[in-house]
Amino acid sequence: MIISKNISLHVAWEAIWEEVEKAASEKDHPYRYPILGTVDTNEKPDLRKVVLRDYKDGNRFIIFTDSRSLKVGQIENNPSVSLLFWNDEMSLQLRANGKAEIYTDGETKEQYWEEQGKHGYHSYTSVHTPGERISSPEEAFEWEGLNPGHFCVIEITLEEAEFLQLNGIEHLRAKRVISGERIIDNWITP
Ligand SMILES: Cc1cc2nc3c(=O)[nH]c(=O)nc-3n(C[C@H](O)[C@H](O)[C@H](O)COP(=O)(O)O)c2cc1C
Repeated sequence: MIISKNISLHVAWEAIWEEVEKAASEKDHPYRYPILGTVDTNEKPDLRKVVLRDYKDGNRFIIFTDSRSLKVGQIENNPSVSLLFWNDEMSLQLRANGKAEIYTDGETKEQYWEEQGKHGYHSYTSVHTPGERISSPEEAFEWEGLNPGHFCVIEITLEEAEFLQLNGIEHLRAKRVISGERIIDNWITP
């Protein structure tokens, strides 16, 4: 348990962001695979697991995807997204809500492609469009190789976060709201 009732909320949040930072570089960290929630074009929620690729400047989460995937169109339509992290070892849930931006070209994309993306190119260069109907699984096993054409970067800027530290019956929950330079922290009832 990393959060206790005797520490300040500032210290609690610092400890949590430290875990997120670790997850961006440690493949087996429990926060490495958050669930990304988007709003679809019919205003319905949609969820899927993703890999946290980077955590920047204490408020931005980086995810890679294929620009043809459903989630990209959903984000273009409605940039409000949610990330859900669960750390089983620490019994610590983290919810992070924010606005997503998609980088389909430019320096941000090029840098991430070179550093990480191209090493997992199979995830972003399928010849067939993700979600497209195929007649057999093998049809999808064809890739464009080191062509970053469909690789894109999702950058989520944090607006609100909430943690829940499970602790027997004395659970601890807090909410952070970020408004420009202003940060408002409160303990809330679990
Ligand atoms: C453990 C795990 C990690 C995943 N990581 C990613 C990822 O980083 N990016 C991604 O686009 N899809 C990732 N996926 C696949 C997505 O969950 C999803 O199936 C795919 O992106 C299509 O989603 P969409 O149709 O909502 O766009 C991952 C799936 C699993 C199970």
